[in-house]
Amino acid sequence: MLNLAVFGSGSGSNYQAIAEAIAAGRLNARVACVISDVKEAYILERARKFGHPAIYLDCAPFKTKLDGEAEARAIEIIKQHGGDIIALAGFMRIVKSGLLNAFAGRIINIHPSLLPAFPGLEAGRQAIEAGVKETGCTVHFVDGGIDSGPIICQRKVPVLPGDTEETLMNRIHEQEHLAYPEALQKIAEG
Ligand code: GAR
Repeated sequence: MLNLAVFGSGSGSNYQAIAEAIAAGRLNARVACVISDVKEAYILERARKFGHPAIYLDCAPFKTKLDGEAEARAIEIIKQHGGDIIALAGFMRIVKSGLLNAFAGRIINIHPSLLPAFPGLEAGRQAIEAGVKETGCTVHFVDGGIDSGPIICQRKVPVLPGDTEETLMNRIHEQEHLAYPEALQKIAEG
């Protein structure tokens, strides 16, 4: 069974999909804790509703990475709660070597594109601007790069004529909510 430490900065719909898959018996895991770098993030509200430990982590003075004291605190919190796998679910900071080394090969991320295409921010907009006919989502192990590392699974979605960033992202999100629990279950099964 996986003991998941889920990290997110925003809505937490992927966290919710993971929590629902566990409740439905489709994912052999437990949520050890949910950590956010954004105090008011809805992911923490969702976590409280599920009865999972919901922890705000102040990442100052850094704006775009998890490093220094905050990184050390994150490692401590995860260990305290018995977390052994980190699932990044819309966590909008770069993970640095301290956490990467402490959880080597045990940090997973989801990204709204068919990586290696369109890493970074606004992957939906990038896909529309590039004029591709197909995009999707990727669940992958995290290495030192931005949205890079060995791929666990991908799901495709079409880019339709007239798509806006919003309509496309909605379609991608639906697939993400299937892909993330599936990928984690694959890891649970070894
Ligand atoms: C998801 O679309 C996820 O793929 C993306 O943030 C969103 C979080 O949504 N992550 C990245 O772009 C990572 N580079 P959620 O908070 O509703 O799960």
